[in-house]
Amino acid sequence: MAFDLRAFRTALGSFPTGVAVVTTSASAEQHMGITVNSFTSVSLDPPLVLWCLDKKSDRYHAFTNSMSYTVSILGTDHQDVSSRLARQGSHSLDGIGLNDTELGPPALADALAVFECKAEAVHDAGDHAILIGRVLRFSRHAHGEPLVFFRGKYGSLAQTS
Ligand SMILES: Cc1cc2nc3c(=O)[nH]c(=O)nc-3n(C[C@H](O)[C@H](O)[C@H](O)COP(=O)(O)O)c2cc1C
Repeated sequence: MAFDLRAFRTALGSFPTGVAVVTTSASAEQHMGITVNSFTSVSLDPPLVLWCLDKKSDRYHAFTNSMSYTVSILGTDHQDVSSRLARQGSHSLDGIGLNDTELGPPALADALAVFECKAEAVHDAGDHAILIGRVLRFSRHAHGEPLVFFRGKYGSLAQTS
């Protein structure tokens, strides 16, 4: 029986995730970002995180060759930014509220949490690469609702209290 890729992708969408934007800097002036939901914590000590990048992405070489990147965890207020940075060829951060970081790649203003990463490793994984980052600095906001991605749509967490 042929493996149904479309049905596989749809089934994977049953796993609800948060949404993050990863930024990197091609130069001091030229920053770029991409929307991802593959972000995951890996190790506490040493502090490692990962995300996966499609080899077909226009941004593949920029991110796999970068020495550092910044992961910003998005809140519900960031839905427009998320959609924009998920559009093919739409990499620019112009007009998006940003905060400077020590490593260089900017963080999104009002992100729920920010992880400044030094590139630790890039692993080949089928049609994606797994990018492992070593977290050198992080911060978090105690308030704000996370942006959620589930069944191909954005949503938020239902209030339980
Ligand atoms: C919610 C959401 C999550 C995404 N997660 C990933 C991801 O983890 N890895 C990835 O390579 N692309 C992911 N994408 C797709 C990219 O954001 C982008 O659309 C894709 O790289 C195509 O654009 P490009 O060729 O200009 O890079 C996601 C898109 C959305 C809307």
